[in-house]
Amino acid sequence: MRTALTELVGIRYPVVQAAMGYVSGPRLAAATSNAGGLGQIASATMTLAELEDAIEETAGRTAAPFGVNLRADAPDAAMRIRLIIARRVPVASFAQAPKPELVAALKDAGVITIASVGARRHAEKVAAWGVDAVIATGGEGGGHVGAVPTSLLIPQVAAAVDIPVIAAGGFFDGRGLVAALAWGAAGIAMGTRFLLTSDSPVPDAVKQVYLAAGLDGTVVTRRVDGVPHRVLRTTMVDHLQEGGRMGGLMRSARNAARFRGLSGTGWREMIRQGREMRRDSGLGWGQVLMAANTPVLLRAAMVDGRTDLGLMSSGQVAGLIGDLPSCAQLIEAIMTEAGASLDRLAGLRKT
Ligand SMILES: Cc1cc2nc3c(=O)[nH]c(=O)nc-3n(C[C@H](O)[C@H](O)[C@H](O)COP(=O)(O)O)c2cc1C
Repeated sequence: MRTALTELVGIRYPVVQAAMGYVSGPRLAAATSNAGGLGQIASATMTLAELEDAIEETAGRTAAPFGVNLRADAPDAAMRIRLIIARRVPVASFAQAPKPELVAALKDAGVITIASVGARRHAEKVAAWGVDAVIATGGEGGGHVGAVPTSLLIPQVAAAVDIPVIAAGGFFDGRGLVAALAWGAAGIAMGTRFLLTSDSPVPDAVKQVYLAAGLDGTVVTRRVDGVPHRVLRTTMVDHLQEGGRMGGLMRSARNAARFRGLSGTGWREMIRQGREMRRDSGLGWGQVLMAANTPVLLRAAMVDGRTDLGLMSSGQVAGLIGDLPSCAQLIEAIMTEAGASLDRLAGLRKT
């Protein structure tokens, strides 16, 4: 299949593996790229040295294009970008808002840039900065989400910008790919569906919890890190939802301390990041402190397999997924079904 996305990135199929902290490392990214899609390393939860190793390992596992996803507000964002350029990573994608000077540096070096957006005005803004494509994620998606559903966001964004739009939030099969193309997108990105593959490094016990979830098995909560976050509904999440504000702040402080230990970030640097986050986001100190919850709680589930204590970001689509194919099997099945759907739709026309 040829779309503006496959042409832009030089991939066989218009299927992107969305970045997932502690989940999409070299193994998953390379398996996706080897299967003809675009794999991505999620770097927000990695140190710079870990990212360097991850790029090297991914390049060793695949000769196909892959991407690195990063946060423009990371204190070492400029160094990460220098690394991406030096290692000739074909694609850089931004988890949240990019910065125009970072986009310009990447573009000057010939790196394809993709920005994540949740609203039309964000897409218009980053398109004006020169990004090559956007991933627009609807409200049914996993992780941080907006309120507008995919079925409304994608047609709106696709009509607003001239660059390729990659649709995300709720995709899992070939029918969804065809629907996204019909809405004007050039491809799809999937997180939860790629987490639930045999190539994903997540412990099996965690995958089983996702597989058991129904369509009503997720909830959007602000209690994790202050902004809307779609996660599997577990006893721990129910406690977070019910807990008082003071309890939440105490837990956030403990997690901030643990994150400091895990990431090697000093208190001075954490306070500096917190100040910047407050300035950029308008969040209160309580919410800034809560932001440290996400990496610690996500890691507890995705790396340590603690389904009781950890946080499992998830799209609503978990409720429709019941198997663990390899990335190659998954992408092949999606493309076969997309072809059959296109044929079926063509058959609807009156001759
Ligand atoms: C377990 C998990 C972890 C995620 N971690 C990140 C992350 O670190 N950075 C990010 O920008 N998005 C993250 N996301 C969001 C995904 O990139 C993507 O937007 C989302 O999964 C798309 O919706 P879907 O799950 O319905 O396919 C995460 C999603 C999941 C399910």
